[in-house]
Amino acid sequence: MKIIRAKDYKDMSRKAANIISAQVIMKPNCVLGLATGGTPVGTYKQLIDWYNKGDLDFSEVTTVNLDEYRGLPRENPQSYWYFMHDNLFNHVNIDHSRINLPDGTNLDAAAECARYDEVIRSVGGIDLQLLGIGHDGHIGFNEPGSAFELGTHCVDLTQDTIEANKRFFESIDDVPRQAYTMGIKTIMQARKVLLVASGKDKASIVKKAFFGPVTPEVPASILQMHPDFILVGDEEALSEI
Ligand code: GLP
Repeated sequence: MKIIRAKDYKDMSRKAANIISAQVIMKPNCVLGLATGGTPVGTYKQLIDWYNKGDLDFSEVTTVNLDEYRGLPRENPQSYWYFMHDNLFNHVNIDHSRINLPDGTNLDAAAECARYDEVIRSVGGIDLQLLGIGHDGHIGFNEPGSAFELGTHCVDLTQDTIEANKRFFESIDDVPRQAYTMGIKTIMQARKVLLVASGKDKASIVKKAFFGPVTPEVPASILQMHPDFILVGDEEALSEI
């Protein structure tokens, strides 16, 4: 595990974007595993900025996103499909046929999860997986108690996650109760994993996940065992370690 200390959110975003850029420069046809949530937004902004300056080329990049709400169509502004287009894909020269997310409208969970695992397998696995972290230690939507050996699967979101994500919806009743997510096994198979953490409210979970025991109760803790795991955190998020 490598820990990179950043001054603040902007510095964290820049450092994370630097690592992603290095991946794209070294392997232009790489597979990027991408994440949603508030934390990576600054990283995406920085990548867009470098793309606009002519320093980055996404034309051969393939993306696979971590998760999607079950039941939300793409055009719903709260879907992760929409989020990714709004925050990154619509602003860079990515080939839209190389963008992959679980399909929230396929309500046949077993079929959709199997399809998505096959997509990840067929693109040759993930070169770099970007992650955020939930307050309870979830990564993607792998909630506490998730088995480490799972591939893509359908999850019931915990009350904690529903609460944390309600800020993006009109009311808490609009937050979907289920999601499709890559499993911990899929994430651990990525060749490089980059987790971004920002803010005082993430300090205690960062300490627990990366300096506490490895346990399914804290899903992110398994990343301690990953051979190429980088945590980029700002001062506040790293304040307890
Ligand atoms: C959601 C996403 C996660 C993300 C988490 C934390 O639950 N599924 O991938 O890491 O939120 O989000 P934030 O970065 O906004 O704290």
